[in-house]
Amino acid sequence: MAKDLEKEKKLAAKEAVKSIRDHMIIGLGTGSSAVYVIKEIGELVKNGLKIKAIPTSNATQELAASLNIPLIDINSVNTIDITIDGADEFTSDLILIKGGGGALLKEKIVASLTKEEIIIADSSKKVEAIGKFKVPIEVIPFASNYVLRQIELLKGIGQIRTNADQPFITDQGNYIIDADFGLISNPAALAEKLNGIEGIVGHGIFIDLASKVIMGNNDSILIFERKGASHKS
Ligand code: 5RP
Repeated sequence: MAKDLEKEKKLAAKEAVKSIRDHMIIGLGTGSSAVYVIKEIGELVKNGLKIKAIPTSNATQELAASLNIPLIDINSVNTIDITIDGADEFTSDLILIKGGGGALLKEKIVASLTKEEIIIADSSKKVEAIGKFKVPIEVIPFASNYVLRQIELLKGIGQIRTNADQPFITDQGNYIIDADFGLISNPAALAEKLNGIEGIVGHGIFIDLASKVIMGNNDSILIFERKGASHKS
C-alpha cells in the first residue's frame, strides 16, 4: 500500500513541537512539512504558550503572523533555542539537502544560530547518500553564468531554477541553481568547494547543523540522532 507522506509529516510535526517550552526562541522552517509545525505552534500559542519566533522565509513569516505567533528580528538575538524545519534528503548521519523551497540561505543562517535544530521528514526523504535531489545553490544573478561554469568544473550539471518560464527569485532577490553532482560520496568536500566560489551566497548541503531528524514512518516515528536511529513510538 502506498505510504501517506502527508500523514507522516504531520506525525513528525506533532512530535517535534513537544520539545517547545515557554519563553523559548523558536526558528520556523519553510516548506510543506514546516507548515504543519507552524500550524501546531499556532494552536499552542492560542492556548497560552509564550514564545517568540524567527521565520526562515517570507511565506513562513506570513503564515506565522496570520496565526498570531509573535515574531522577532533575528538580529535581536544571539541564539535560537529550537528550530524545526524540513529537508529534501537526509542520511542517518544527519547530512541534509535543503532548499527545495528556495529558502536555504535563511534556513542555514537560522540553523547556524540554533542550539537544537530538529528536522522533520516523511519517509521518502531518507537516503543512503545525498545527491539524487539536485543541490540548490543560491547565487547573485550577476554571477550566475560564472557559477554554472564552476559547477561544471566540479563535474556537476547546473540549471537556473525557473518559475513560469522566468528565473525563480529568492526572498533575497537572488537566483537558485539546481546542481546535479550524482550521488555525493564526500559531501563535506563538495560543500567546502561550493563555499569558495564567488557569487554563491549559500548552498543546500547542511552538515553538522541538524541535532536530530524526526521521520514519520507509516503510523509511527523514527528518530535519527547523531549516532544511528531509534524507534520512539
Ligand atoms: C525549503 C526547504 C524545505 O525544508 C525542503 O524543501 C522540504 O520541503 P517539504 O517539507 O515541502 O518537502 O529546504 O527551502
